[in-house]
Amino acid sequence: MDSPGARIVVFVCVMVALFGVAFSAQSCNVLLTSNRQFTACQTIPEVGANLAWRIRNDSSNAIDFAYSGTAPSASGWVGWGINPAGAGMVGTQALIAFQSTTGAVVYQYPVTGAVKGGQSLIPGDLTLNFTDTSAVVSGAEMTIFSTLNLKAGDSMSMQYVWGQGRTVDLTNNAVGPHSIPISGDAAVTNIDLLTAQASTVELPNQKLKNNHGLISAVSWGLLMPLGVMAARYLRPISGSNPAWFYTHIAFQCTGYVLGVVSWALGLKLHNLNEGGAVPYKHRNIGISIFALATLQVLALLLRPKPDAKYRKYWNIYHHTVGYATIILIIINIFEGLDLLQPEDKWTTAYVIVLCVLGGISLIMEIVIWTLWVKQRTKNNKDGMHGSQMKGTGSYRTGQDVV
Ligand SMILES: *[C@@H]1O[C@H](CO)[C@@H](O)[C@H](O)[C@H]1NC(C)=O
Ligand SMILES: *[C@@H]1O[C@H](CO)[C@@H](O)[C@H](O)[C@H]1NC(C)=O
Repeated sequence: MDSPGARIVVFVCVMVALFGVAFSAQSCNVLLTSNRQFTACQTIPEVGANLAWRIRNDSSNAIDFAYSGTAPSASGWVGWGINPAGAGMVGTQALIAFQSTTGAVVYQYPVTGAVKGGQSLIPGDLTLNFTDTSAVVSGAEMTIFSTLNLKAGDSMSMQYVWGQGRTVDLTNNAVGPHSIPISGDAAVTNIDLLTAQASTVELPNQKLKNNHGLISAVSWGLLMPLGVMAARYLRPISGSNPAWFYTHIAFQCTGYVLGVVSWALGLKLHNLNEGGAVPYKHRNIGISIFALATLQVLALLLRPKPDAKYRKYWNIYHHTVGYATIILIIINIFEGLDLLQPEDKWTTAYVIVLCVLGGISLIMEIVIWTLWVKQRTKNNKDGMHGSQMKGTGSYRTGQDVV
């Protein structure tokens, strides 16, 4: 799961599988009419899950819960938790159910900052006192039953968080990443258990993160590669016409300006960084991309004249740094998607964009290589016939006219 390639494959598979999954969690009606005497129930439309509860009318200060959700597959997991620390994933005290080799199980999972940073989520002690926890698993439909024992004076208003994922490592009960995110606008709900009033909780900096992600994807992730493709593919077929150069510059400059905006948003997010979960990798690759892109812009201004002696070396340098930057950009966009955990359609959309760009590049590589071979054959022939038509420029490298 560490290489972007592997991730692309996984995400595409997730999408394919998701289309085959219909939400089939136990409905509120079923939960409310069960013999567990739940008195309230709330549906989470985003994931087709239901949360039912009953506040015990005695001195125990206990609340019985049932959370019923649908995992992406029968070998996946369904989880539900309460975050006493406030909004967000870090600090969540979660109960997660799945099918083990011996039957349905449910374990307690404390979601720490380290988990958000990439450590696997394994069972541990919770700060909340859940008792009588059990799970019923029927295919991908999983229902968690539990009783939360409150201390006197505990709030009856709580943030609850849900998620479900595709994989469980049955050797240590570690659950794989959630496929429907525990983030985004709707994955945390504030609920008043007494009145059954629920409201969606805005996660900290979520809008800023979304904007940073979107602008980065468009600027670094789309315009920059398009600009590189313009230079590589328009140039050989445009002869001495410098149009390719202006197209290249237009894409690269727009991409860079927007990229600087997203970089500034990234810096702001870094300063606001909450919970100690610093995404070092994403940040460091981001710094490298910004530095290399700035270097490319400066190099453009300092480029030697087309017929200068050093132009050849400048070209090699410019191309190497350019391609390296594009590779870093793609890696970092997947890093960012991992952190942001947007809905799968966003990741799929970016994978499709990459596939289209890759497909166009492949076709254009074949076209320009074919042209180059033809041109060379023609030149050789002309050469053999003593023609003076030499040095009309190779299709592969084009001509430096600007
Ligand atoms: C709680 O139980 C008492 C005694 O059985 C009853 O009088 C009261 O109406 C109950 N309250 C609720 C909210 O059900
Ligand atoms: C949890 O709640 C149960 C039932 O009220 C109680 O018996 C137990 O002592 C509590 N455990 C802790 C650690 O508070």
